Amino acid sequence: MTGGAGYVGSHAAFALLDAGYRVVVVDDLSTGHREAVPADAVFVRADVGDRNAVAEVLRGLDVSAVMHFAGSIVVPESVEKPLDYYANNTMNSMALVRTCIEGGVKAFLFSSTAAVYGAPDRVPIDETMPTKPVNPYGASKLMTERMLADASAAHGLRYACLRYFNVAGADPAGRAGQSSRVATHLIKIACQTALGLRPRMSVFGDDYPTPDGTCIRDYIHVTDLVAAHEQTLTHLLGGADSFIANCGYGKGYSVKQIIETMEKVLGRPLPVDIAGRRAGDPPELVADSTLLRKTVGWAPKHDDLEQIIRNALDWEESLIRSGRLVPAE
Ligand code: UFG
Repeated sequence: MTGGAGYVGSHAAFALLDAGYRVVVVDDLSTGHREAVPADAVFVRADVGDRNAVAEVLRGLDVSAVMHFAGSIVVPESVEKPLDYYANNTMNSMALVRTCIEGGVKAFLFSSTAAVYGAPDRVPIDETMPTKPVNPYGASKLMTERMLADASAAHGLRYACLRYFNVAGADPAGRAGQSSRVATHLIKIACQTALGLRPRMSVFGDDYPTPDGTCIRDYIHVTDLVAAHEQTLTHLLGGADSFIANCGYGKGYSVKQIIETMEKVLGRPLPVDIAGRRAGDPPELVADSTLLRKTVGWAPKHDDLEQIIRNALDWEESLIRSGRLVPAE
């Protein structure tokens, strides 16, 4: 897999090893952490766009399937540095897909995003709805989806694009979690505020056309997301057709509801202020995940906001205890 030193990738590495797979992680550690990679995985420090390095891994370790988690994921950064996003998420993915086809890889799983839909007209969002990204991040991922479709038609690569909604939480066993250097995600920021690492946090906009005026998202536990990857892998390696599917629970929570749930888990209020809207935030993103459920038999096991928040909080606490904490910026 690529990006196995990152948030979702490190969880997937543990889960696949638990399931008895051999795992090789290719990661350049530009945003990931070496210590996030399980000891039982082979680790190769390389850029996924480095065709020689990746070809050597595929040949040397007889790789049958690739999960491509590596990528740049910060939406506002993609607006400031669009070409970096196309270089990393689109061009490096192109190099990787080419290397995989030449290397005889049988199945390719791509980490796509709800950002490909832009600001949809209605929710829940199903896969037939138009893809109209409103930022370079979403566009860079959508281009890779298109490239995979064309490459698959021409060269027979079986692939799946999994469109993640808001991934959150951490491994309930405490082996992995979200360790990014610059926290931007709501639940991570709420955890850091709860633990006193930030003096306060802000709600970005309370004048959206939603019941309480704050944005609504579909938060999916990272462990359920990883289970979707495992089932997709089995499905593709079994000879099934390529597909594109949303990964979310189909339930929306507002920013205020997330903060209230955090306060309930903590048993005390959080220092919160109301700030202006953040650029590029769609009011509401909720997945229709019927296709994923039907196609690979996915059935979430951690669809519980309190558990998501508790697991995220436990991970953040473990970062403090172990001294691995990356200071908030
Ligand atoms: N938010 C706050 N305060 C904060 C941080 C976030 O109010 O301190 C709000 C945001 O404005 C947004 C919601 O909380 O309304 C969720 O924000 P996140 O940054 O946690 O997540 P996003 O929905 O912006 O991003 C996610 C994925 C992206 C993906 C995007 C699709 O992380 O990879 O959904 O729109 F592109």
